[in-house]
Amino acid sequence: MKITKICCIGAGYVGGPTMAVIAQKCPHIQVTVVDLNEQRIALWNDPNVDNIPIYEPGLSEVVAEARGRNLFFSTAVDEAIAEAEMIFISVNTPTKTYGSGKGLAADLKYIELCARQIARVSTTDKIVVEKSTLPVRTAEAIKSILQNTGNGVKYQILSNPEFLAEGTAVEDLFSPDRVLIGGETTPEGEKAIQALVDIYANWVPKERILTTNVWSSELSKLVANAFLAQRVSSINSISELCEKTGADVNEVARAIGMDSRIGPKFLKSSVGFGGSCFQKDILNLVYIAKSYGLHEVADYWEQVIIMNDHQKTRFAKNIVCTLYNTVADKKIAFLGWAFKKDTNDTRESAAIYVANDLLFEQAKLAVYDPKVEHTQIISDLNYLQTRPSQENEKGIQTFNDPYEACKDAHAIAILTEWDEFKGYDWEKIYAHMNKPAFIFDGRNLLDKEKLTRIGFKYQTIGS
Ligand code: UDX
Ligand code: ADP
Repeated sequence: MKITKICCIGAGYVGGPTMAVIAQKCPHIQVTVVDLNEQRIALWNDPNVDNIPIYEPGLSEVVAEARGRNLFFSTAVDEAIAEAEMIFISVNTPTKTYGSGKGLAADLKYIELCARQIARVSTTDKIVVEKSTLPVRTAEAIKSILQNTGNGVKYQILSNPEFLAEGTAVEDLFSPDRVLIGGETTPEGEKAIQALVDIYANWVPKERILTTNVWSSELSKLVANAFLAQRVSSINSISELCEKTGADVNEVARAIGMDSRIGPKFLKSSVGFGGSCFQKDILNLVYIAKSYGLHEVADYWEQVIIMNDHQKTRFAKNIVCTLYNTVADKKIAFLGWAFKKDTNDTRESAAIYVANDLLFEQAKLAVYDPKVEHTQIISDLNYLQTRPSQENEKGIQTFNDPYEACKDAHAIAILTEWDEFKGYDWEKIYAHMNKPAFIFDGRNLLDKEKLTRIGFKYQTIGS
């Protein structure tokens, strides 16, 4: 089976970069990315390629090369589905905010709408690929909808979870540790798997392309994210112990990471992990375990989230406590709002929760992030529904200049590990702050010795 036309539903953080790279690496395949969001599609098509809606190092170059050649962005969802032989589903699957499974289960309404749309417009056989992170056995639901509502067209459902991390998406797509493809173990299923293997084989070494059954593939995605998040929560739990005992969490991380069985990655203590995946996927895992009555399994993984929430709360509490138990009307500068560096994505960013806690204490926040806009920051806080929007607006100012953000502040909190923060003129910043001038480094990013020499009261996580 040779694929010549791909449609991807959802032009977000997953669909956009993934399809751009497939198009770049497979000039013989026409790739159309569709989305209901007209504004998002308009930005993907913006003549100035620097205006694409997702900031990822190297992405605009890839888009510039393929766009208009074999990469297209469009709102004409039906047409793109109708002509494709392979359809990727990359729509969002947020945690449910209502009904049964509220706060835990993934909301599959967007996936179901996609499946129904595919069933409605398809007149030729299709391979449907789940790209969004989904609970186990979603492929089965998609299949059931397609088979019961379609026009007699044949469908093969594959699971092909995305493992790219934001900020390094293009790099991760260019040389993935592995590509995982789950499909049915029938002759038709195997043909479909092979068709997708052939696409990736254009640039990924064959031994890195794994094929499994559908459910193993779906579950592996949740488990990979749960294991990664667990490492962060594990080291964060140790950071608190280090603070009490005089050990240094960076030294501990280095020492344990040199054990080849443990490995050095994902041991960086921080103000807490964020991002659209970790929390959502663990909650999903917890929900699935509970639904099978596996309460010990559910509790075990839930603890990763509880630890992460604790890390964010205790960071905010420490600021209040250190600033003589009150931050009311004090200016506190936030450097960084994105959930990690090199992305404009703010979903579940620790900054949102720390800001929320400090606003309850009536602090005046001054935020600078190189890639996040004021409207996004306010919308992130409003999403928590903890106070009226006007109050969020009153409590938060955003700045385009970090020096202005820090001017007259009582304290600076580092929430994202943007490289540029390291190169600032810290003497100048110190000179214009209220004294004593505090820095709470939630990313252990800055040079402690240098800042202390300048005069800052500098606190890190885990030492
Ligand atoms: C994650 C997975 O890594 C990726 O494979 C999956 O496809 C999507 O979810 P992402 O959320 O984009 O990717 O970023 P990641 O680099 O995993 O970071 C997640 C969060 O953990 C960030 O807030 C980051 O700052 C934090 N983190 C990560 C730490 O605090 N310490 C670490 O050592 C590593
Ligand atoms: P992710 O990080 O998983 O890529 P995003 O929220 O960034 O999530 O992107 C998902 C995209 O999917 C959004 O732009 C949304 O508009 C789009 N989307 C959701 N449902 C549909 C649908 N039925 N048809 C087309 N696009 C959809």
